[in-house]
Amino acid sequence: YVIGVDLGTSAVKVLLVNQAGRITKEVSKSYPLIQEKTGYSEQDPEQWVEKTLEGLKELTGSHDVNPADIEGISFAGQMHGLVLLDRQQEVLRHAILWNDTRTTEQCRKIYQELGEERLLTLTKNPALEGFTLPKLLWVKENEREIYNEASTFLLPKDYLRYRLTGRINCEYSDAAGTLLLDTAKKEWSSEICDVFELPVNLCPPLVDSGDCVGTLTEEAAQVSGLSENVKVFAGGADNACGAIGAGILSEGKTLCSIGTSGVVLSYEDSADLDFSGKVHYFNHGKKDAFYTMGVTLSAGYSLSWFKQVFASEESYEELLQELDAAPLGAGGLLFTPYLAGERTPHADADIRGSFIGMDSAHTKKDFVRSVVEGITFSLNDSIQIFREQGKTIDKVVSIGGGAKNDTWLQIQADIFNAQVVRLESEQGPGMGAAMLAACGCGWFSTLEECAGAFVEPKDIVSPVSENVVAYRNLYRLYQEVYTQTKEIN
Ligand code: XUL
Repeated sequence: YVIGVDLGTSAVKVLLVNQAGRITKEVSKSYPLIQEKTGYSEQDPEQWVEKTLEGLKELTGSHDVNPADIEGISFAGQMHGLVLLDRQQEVLRHAILWNDTRTTEQCRKIYQELGEERLLTLTKNPALEGFTLPKLLWVKENEREIYNEASTFLLPKDYLRYRLTGRINCEYSDAAGTLLLDTAKKEWSSEICDVFELPVNLCPPLVDSGDCVGTLTEEAAQVSGLSENVKVFAGGADNACGAIGAGILSEGKTLCSIGTSGVVLSYEDSADLDFSGKVHYFNHGKKDAFYTMGVTLSAGYSLSWFKQVFASEESYEELLQELDAAPLGAGGLLFTPYLAGERTPHADADIRGSFIGMDSAHTKKDFVRSVVEGITFSLNDSIQIFREQGKTIDKVVSIGGGAKNDTWLQIQADIFNAQVVRLESEQGPGMGAAMLAACGCGWFSTLEECAGAFVEPKDIVSPVSENVVAYRNLYRLYQEVYTQTKEIN
């Protein structure tokens, strides 16, 4: 067996995967977001460690699992979060997460002091509130005492792995989301560090996603119930691992993944394409490969927000059943999912969401449908950018929340105007992490070979032409809502 750990925003998921690529056991443990002010989003890194160990303990404690049969473990994790450690490697403050939007001023400074063009040349990405460098600059400017104590920073799952192994590393697919990595050269950019007067040694040593970084500490082995000989592999950003887990490992493959955030992601062999920062451009978990990606900040989060406020007693399955009762277009009700600002295509931390066209005839079903359609329209914004750049997108593998409901899959096919593939056993980023461990343990010689054995399509949903036409018109209205509400938000 191997274990894939997905350190998400709402929970950590631990998967036990056998040599046939089947998940034989799965444990999930949730932890809260800390939102002290509007736009703030933090988590206590200690909780990640505690809940992961609890999850591993539960998994190894189960009577049908023999811990001695578990050969390797690897990690996927929420991207961009800033964990700051002091010289004793103790956490200095709560982690500031990817969906925290306090750093607009720091993003402005990055453009002012480094220049947009230079930033794009070096990192291939624009300055966005969610990325790590602006967070580091925010701490430097606003919490100087903490900054002065800092000896290194880590990304969330790299911190978790450090706590389990005692080794400090950062792997490329997460380093790519910091705005400190020279993406093409695969090294920390001393130029960026110099411009912002950050010591380069604040940046942790870099490794590849598939690298074995050691074994578990005695304490971690004891608490988790795993053997101390379990090999630990670096792992990758959740989106990179989601791509691996869905077999997005060659040119022409596209993924739509709906978790707290939602992404549309496309595999790239080269770091030389020019997307002018319209979509993110990151290192893949597959060695020396890349992916481009558009992000909807509040995708699954919009649905969980709606459920919490209006239907807290219902399960997601029950809530999504409402989709079938409502007509296409939700009877004229239109939702924009900008609950915490938006990344792609607007890069606007201040915009907020809206329901447009409310009518006294609308009932809950229309609201549920409009939320799901709004999330999907927002993902379609990214698909349109890819198409404008000349990419052909006629088939999209769908994973996460959006793949769990038949009607939502059809809505994706109709709005994207593309075939949508659902996988047989879809476990998102955790599965990608498990595949990195499986390759590291020598079960396969390449990730592609592993995907050939582990990733199995279940069915394909095709777009229905009259729905495509209807949604095309609604999408135009959807796009208008941003322009029309921008000034009043
Ligand atoms: C990607 C991003 C999110 C997080 C969610 O740029 O910020 O998708 O990785 O975990």
